[in-house]
Amino acid sequence: MDADTLLRELVEFLRIPSVSTLPAHDADCRRAAEWVAAELRRLGCRDVAFLASDVHPVVWGVGPDVPGAPTLLIYGHYDVQPPDPLDEWITPPFEPTVRDGKLFARGSADDKGQVFCLLRAIAAAGPPPVNFRFLIEGEEEYGSRVLFDLLRRQQGRRRADAVLIADMAYVAPRWPAVYTALRGLCYAEISVRTAASELHSGEFGGAAPNAHEELVRLLGRLKGSDGKINIPGLYAAVKRPSRAELAAWKKLPFREADFLKRRVRAKALTGLKGHSVLERLWALPTFEIHGIMGGFTSDGAKTVIPAAATAKVSLRLVPNQKLHTVERQLAAAVKRLAPKYVSASVRFMHGADPAQVRITHPAFRLLDQAFREVVGRGTVPVRAGGSIPVVPALGRSGAPVILTGIGLPDDRLHAPNEKLDLSQLWDGIQVFRQFYGLLGEAKT
Ligand code: BES
Ligand code: MN
Ligand code: MN
Repeated sequence: MDADTLLRELVEFLRIPSVSTLPAHDADCRRAAEWVAAELRRLGCRDVAFLASDVHPVVWGVGPDVPGAPTLLIYGHYDVQPPDPLDEWITPPFEPTVRDGKLFARGSADDKGQVFCLLRAIAAAGPPPVNFRFLIEGEEEYGSRVLFDLLRRQQGRRRADAVLIADMAYVAPRWPAVYTALRGLCYAEISVRTAASELHSGEFGGAAPNAHEELVRLLGRLKGSDGKINIPGLYAAVKRPSRAELAAWKKLPFREADFLKRRVRAKALTGLKGHSVLERLWALPTFEIHGIMGGFTSDGAKTVIPAAATAKVSLRLVPNQKLHTVERQLAAAVKRLAPKYVSASVRFMHGADPAQVRITHPAFRLLDQAFREVVGRGTVPVRAGGSIPVVPALGRSGAPVILTGIGLPDDRLHAPNEKLDLSQLWDGIQVFRQFYGLLGEAKT
């Protein structure tokens, strides 16, 4: 199939604003699921089905039977993050536009463009001797609850010789990667209440407690200016990377100065002293404040003492931390750090355990070979700072979970002007086509 047709079809998929966290986009998520289902039927899948949810269904498919061939389960997600702030996009997020060989759109790299790549590589291979299974979900950006529940009830859905996920990036241009760990996540709202209702700041200021002040102080206690998270017990389970792994990271094409200047685009990096940037990004837990709600934030000026305030926060977790332990530790810390006269509470929204993958299975060698043949370099083992909640569950039956991707580090996932380099897409189709062929011959 020619490049123009492929691009036109990907653009159709990217036009659908399938933002899973915003109920206003439920119908769009459903349309994106239908787009995926149509693709699977086109690949000759039988049993194409919408599972577990009408709103954000998991799209399931079973490729044509190839007796004796290995089974490969492909996982991906058709949902995307909200596109705001809209005025920072050079062209609108759901009007995909090519500039300078890059396709700009929300979801171009994360993950619609990559799902498209994996599927079109099957057609390009015409078709390979592999038994394909597909689980393409619509709630990854919102914690994957639908797919978690499905996999708990129907464990057979994950049965495969290997699982393939392309939802990540190269470490650098021309440096394909395979991932050995993902961080987990604990997303929560921390709320404080200081009085029965808001109060006039002239009548009461100087004597009444202020909810925003208490919340901000509480947040400031949870993480110090040295970057250390003050949640008792939090670091106890953290496993330090081995010497060999730390030494390998030093050889990666990663320069702190470049990272600061080109990717973070700030004046300085922050975080725990005594640990390299990669260790802070990949092997240490984080605590981030995403937003603070409450009080007076509209136009104009209002003299009021807020009585309630809420912060959306999350922690990233690393091997061998456990989500449930961290939830308990955070709730206990909030109770302990809030003054007696403040009622503080934590509501957990979603989360994921961290994932670790051993890359010893022969399938990893085949992926390495495919990249080597197409791109000229094999896969370098790295970790990811981000999370894919269902990875531990997908690996639970023992199949190797191959985490890789065709993105580049500057794709701006979740941010304005997300993009996918088209050369990465064309290479990627050839890489996976090659991989499927090698896997089919290998009879794993
Ligand atoms: N594709 C990302 C995960 C990712 C990003 C892995 C960068 C490696 C490098 C995924 O779509 C994602 O954004 N996951 C969320 C999960 C969360 C909302 C439960 C994340 O990491 O914030
Ligand atoms: Mn993703
Ligand atoms: Mn994402």
